[in-house]
Amino acid sequence: MTKVAIIGTGPCGLSMLRAFEQAEKKGEKIPEVVCFEKQEDWGGLWNYSWRTGSDQYGDPVPNSMYRYLWSNGPKECLEFADYSFDEHFGKPIPSFPPREVLYNYIIGRVSKGNLKDKIKFNTKVTNVFYNSDKFEVSYQNKTNGEISKDNFDYVVVSTGHFSVPFIPQYKGMDSFPGRIMHSHDFRDAEEFRDKNVIVLGSSYSAEDVALQCNKYGAKSVTIGYRHNPMGFKWPKGMKEVYYLDRLEGKKAIFKDKTEQEADVIILCTGYLHHFPFLDENLSLRTGNRLYPPKLYKGVVWQDNHKLIYLGMQDQFHTFNMFDCQAWYARDVIMGKIQIPNDDEIEKDINKWVSMEEKLENPDQMIDFQTEYTKELHEMSNYPKIDFELIRKHFKEWEHHKVEDISTYRNKAFSSPVTGSVAPVHHTPWASAMDDSMKTFLNK
Ligand SMILES: Cc1cc2nc3c(=O)[nH]c(=O)nc-3n(C[C@H](O)[C@H](O)[C@H](O)COP(=O)(O)OP(=O)(O)OC[C@H]3O[C@@H](n4cnc5c(N)ncnc54)[C@H](O)[C@@H]3O)c2cc1C
Ligand SMILES: NC(=O)c1ccc[n+]([C@@H]2O[C@H](COP(=O)([O-])OP(=O)(O)OC[C@H]3O[C@@H](n4cnc5c(N)ncnc54)[C@H](OP(=O)(O)O)[C@@H]3O)[C@@H](O)[C@H]2O)c1
Repeated sequence: MTKVAIIGTGPCGLSMLRAFEQAEKKGEKIPEVVCFEKQEDWGGLWNYSWRTGSDQYGDPVPNSMYRYLWSNGPKECLEFADYSFDEHFGKPIPSFPPREVLYNYIIGRVSKGNLKDKIKFNTKVTNVFYNSDKFEVSYQNKTNGEISKDNFDYVVVSTGHFSVPFIPQYKGMDSFPGRIMHSHDFRDAEEFRDKNVIVLGSSYSAEDVALQCNKYGAKSVTIGYRHNPMGFKWPKGMKEVYYLDRLEGKKAIFKDKTEQEADVIILCTGYLHHFPFLDENLSLRTGNRLYPPKLYKGVVWQDNHKLIYLGMQDQFHTFNMFDCQAWYARDVIMGKIQIPNDDEIEKDINKWVSMEEKLENPDQMIDFQTEYTKELHEMSNYPKIDFELIRKHFKEWEHHKVEDISTYRNKAFSSPVTGSVAPVHHTPWASAMDDSMKTFLNK
C-alpha cells in the first residue's frame, strides 16, 4: 500500500488530511497516511502560544502570531468551499475575525472525524532522505527524545514558512539601550504603551504591528521602510520614513535625516524558508514570492515528483488555495492526475515564474494568484467556490486600505460559498480592545 508522510498540521497539513478524508468518504481507497506535528496540538500558527524562544523541550517555538491579531483580509477570501463560515458558526459573522475565531473555524472542519488518530503530536521530523524509490523519514518524540525511522512513498512538506525570522543587523544595535526584537517574538502590544516604537519593514507585519502598537497606546510609532513605503494615511502618532541608517544611543537616525528617540526596535523583516530536516537535493530554496521556482503547479518538486510542498507561496489567497493544492496533490498521489514529461514541467514553471516577475502592483498580484488557484481548482473535484468574487473582494479590500488603514476591517463582504452577506461588526476595529471570541460573536 502507498504510504504518505505529511509533515506539519497547520492549515496546509490539515487541508491534505481533509482531502484524503473526503476521498475516503466517497468510497475511494486512500493511501496509508502518517502525519507528524512537532507541537502538542494542530492548527500551526493559528494554535497560539504565549511562548517565545524555545519550548519546554528546547525546540524553537514556531509561532509568530500575537494577541489582538485579527484577520488582515476578508474572511470570505479564505473560506473553505466544503465548510462555510455560516455552517460553522450557525449564522453570518463579520468579515474580519480575530485569531481565536479563525482558529475555531479551521479546527471545526477537521474535528468531526477521527483525523487526530493519524497524527503523531510532539513529534519532530529531523531527517528526510530519498533512497531507492523510498523516502526514509527520521522523527523524534520530543517528550522522551526517542528517534524512530520509517519509509514512505510520498512526503508532503507542510511546515509553513513564517516561523524562522530573518534578522538583519544595523549599525549601533550593539549599544542600543532599549529592546530589539523580531515580529516573530511580538506577543502583546500592551507592552509598548507609552513607548517610542520603531518598526522596520514595509509589508503586512510592519503594517499590523505598527497599527497595534498605536492602538494600544504607544507614545509614537515610526516605520522605516527599505524599498517602497506602504504609503497609507497613518493615524495620529504614526509616521513612515526612509530606511534606518544607524542607532546612536537611544536615537534612531534614518537615511532621510529623520531622527527619533526610540525605546524599542521591532524588526518586521520577514521570514526564511527553512527546511533543516530535508536532504539538500530535496530542499526548496526561495524568498517569499508568489511563484517559488522548481515547484510544478506550485506544489510538486521538479526533481522528484513524490515530494510535495504545500503553501510555500507568498499569500493573498490562503485556506482555499491550500485546499486546491491539497486536493491536486492527493490526486497526483492517488494516480488520478498524471505529471507530464520534464520539458512540459520546465515550460509550465517558467511560464508562471516569468509572469510573476512582470507583476507591478497589488491588483496584478491578486490576479496572478487568483489565476493560479483557479487553474488548480479546475484540476480536482474540490467543491464549487466563486473565485471571481474572491478576486473582486481582494481588490476592493486593497482599495479600502488605501482609503483608510484604520477602518478597512470595519467593512463587510459576501460569501463565495453561500452568498450570505456579513453583518457589520458591532465595534469598529480601532476601538475594539477585547478580541475574545465571546465578545466578537455575542455582543
Ligand atoms: C503573524 C502572521 C499573521 C498571519 N495572519 C494571517 C491572516 O490573518 N489570514 C491568513 O489567511 N493568513 C495569515 N497568515 C499566513 C499563514 O501563513 C497561514 O494562514 C497559515 O498558517 C499557513 O499554514 P501552513 O500550514 O503552511 O503553516 P503553519 O501554520 O506555519 O504550520 C506549519 C506546521 O508545521 C509544523 N512543523 C514545522 N516543522 C516541523 C517538523 N520538522 N516536524 C513536525 N512538524 C513541523 C509546525 O509546528 C506547524 O504546526 C499569517 C502569518 C503570520 C506569520
Ligand atoms: N493578520 C494580520 O494582521 C497579519 C499580521 C502580520 C503578518 N501577517 C502575515 O504574515 C506573513 C508574513 O508577513 P511579513 O510582513 O512578516 O513578511 P513579508 O511579507 O515577507 O515582508 C518582509 C518585509 O521585510 C522587509 N525587509 C527585509 N529585510 C529588511 C531590512 N534589512 N530592512 C528593512 N526591511 C527589510 C521587506 O522589505 P523590502 O520590500 O524592502 O524587501 C518586507 O517589507 C504574511 O502572509 C502576512 O499576511 C498577517
